[in-house]
Amino acid sequence: MRLTELENRASETLRLPIRIGVCDSDDGAADLNSAETAQLERFETDARRRDWRRGRLALKAVLRSLDRSDDTSDIRLPAPQLSLTHGDGTAIAVGTPQPDTHVGVDVEALRPVNMRMALWFLNEAELDWLSRREPSERSAALIRLWTIKEAVFKCHPANDGLVMTDFTIRSPSADVSDVRTADGLQFRCASFHEDVGIISIATQGEGNED
Ligand SMILES: CC(C)(COP(=O)(O)OP(=O)(O)OC[C@H]1O[C@@H](n2cnc3c(N)ncnc32)[C@H](O)[C@@H]1OP(=O)(O)O)[C@@H](O)C(=O)NCCC(=O)NCCS
Repeated sequence: MRLTELENRASETLRLPIRIGVCDSDDGAADLNSAETAQLERFETDARRRDWRRGRLALKAVLRSLDRSDDTSDIRLPAPQLSLTHGDGTAIAVGTPQPDTHVGVDVEALRPVNMRMALWFLNEAELDWLSRREPSERSAALIRLWTIKEAVFKCHPANDGLVMTDFTIRSPSADVSDVRTADGLQFRCASFHEDVGIISIATQGEGNED
């Protein structure tokens, strides 16, 4: 993944400065401080500890790029300016220097998916849009819609109790999707195809029409 290029594309597309941190190895594990190490030890499986550690290292990189302390021990997401996702051993953190602005990120590997999954998280108009894609493009389209809803969920400042069907993607074909929630909030979300899969990044505000 070319980080600087992705940061530039994301910043330009979303009209918001975006910083990205990626961690896909255990190098730098010693950089966790004592509070973070204590938090890490609460997790029971090696896989979860690996993901959590890589997530903190990715977050630290973003915090440093925002000229902030890289102590993550007090950060509880959702929180303004920061978001985090994991995919196949790669942690991706996203941040913005813009104060009081929420961001959200989600990554999913591209793979063939069972279209019945769509019934669990898409509304009628979104299902109709999906059914009009070329069959060969439907898995990628479904994965993109999933990452958009997950990224917007993480961007929502008070997301406790919300589910995927609470989010409506009004412009699924647009470069910057316009996403609304029943509580009247508006979000914009852009998706990027990278080696690791589809990465969607969301922030607050209105997106584009199809
Ligand atoms: C919380 C949730 C967004 C995590 O997504 P995921 O795809 O399982 O995992 P990801 O790797 O992309 O993201 C995990 C990170 O999101 C962050 N996160 C967790 N809860 C969060 C929240 N409520 N808001 C924002 N970010 C959150 C954490 O940093 C977490 O990483 P960490 O535990 O290592 O710190 C997801 O499980 C969820 O609840 N989705 C929406 C609700 C829903 O509809 N659920 C039913 C799906 S059928």
